Amino acid sequence: MSNGGGLLQGLFISFEGIDGAGKSTHINGLAQAFRAQGRVVTLTREPGGTPLAETLRAMVLNDAMDAMTEALLVFAARRDHLRQVIEPALAQDQVVLCDRFTDATFAYQGGGRGFDLGLLSVLERMVQTTSIDTADLVRQPDVTVWFDLPAEIAAQRLAGTRVPDKFEAQPVEFFRRVSDGYRQRMLESPARFARIDANQTREAVWRDVLAALQGRACLA
Ligand code: TMP
Repeated sequence: MSNGGGLLQGLFISFEGIDGAGKSTHINGLAQAFRAQGRVVTLTREPGGTPLAETLRAMVLNDAMDAMTEALLVFAARRDHLRQVIEPALAQDQVVLCDRFTDATFAYQGGGRGFDLGLLSVLERMVQTTSIDTADLVRQPDVTVWFDLPAEIAAQRLAGTRVPDKFEAQPVEFFRRVSDGYRQRMLESPARFARIDANQTREAVWRDVLAALQGRACLA
C-alpha cells in the first residue's frame, strides 16, 4: 500500500460477494481508475488466474464432488495462482485486483457447504505462506471489498440471465449461508473488510466503492 511518502508499493485487493452481487463492472472500473493514476494493474480471479488454476476452476464449477474435494481443489488453484501471478506482481509493486480469494472458500465451502472451518484455516495458513523466509507471514489481501446483497435479490437478478453453473444453481438458502460466512469473516478481520451495500443503483455502489478505497488511501 502507499506509505504516505509517495512510494508506491504492491497493493492486493480482493472482491467478494454472492453470485449476482454485481462486482464485475466495478472491478473493471477500478482497474481503469488505478491505471489512470499510473499504476500497473494485474486483473485476475479465483478459482483461476493461471492455466492450471483455470483447469481446476472448470472442474470445481461443473463437476460433482464432495465438499472436501472442492476445498482442496480451490486451495490447490490458489497456491498456483499465488506463486505464479499474485506474489510476482506484488513484488513488482503492482496493484492486484482479484475477483474472489480465500474469503470465498470460507463463505461457499464453509458457510454454504458446511465444511469444517478449522480445516479451512489450516489450509489457508499452509497455502498462503509462499516463502520460507517469511514463514510466519500468511498472505492476505490488503483490502477486501465485500458486495453485500440479500440472497433473495441476488436470485432475482440472476434468474434467466445465463445457464447457471453448479453454484449459481443452488437454492436461496445456500446463499444465505454463504452471506453469513462472509459476515463472519468480516467480524474476524474488520480492518481488512470494506462492506458495500450492493442493494443500490450501480452508480451508488460505484460511489461507495471509490469512497471505501479513497478512505483507505489506496486511490487518490
Ligand atoms: P465467479 O462466478 O464469481 O467467477 O465465481 C466462481 C464460483 O466459484 C462462485 O460461485 C463462487 C465459487 N467459489 C467457491 O466456491 N470457492 C472459492 O474458494 C472461490 C474462489 C469461488
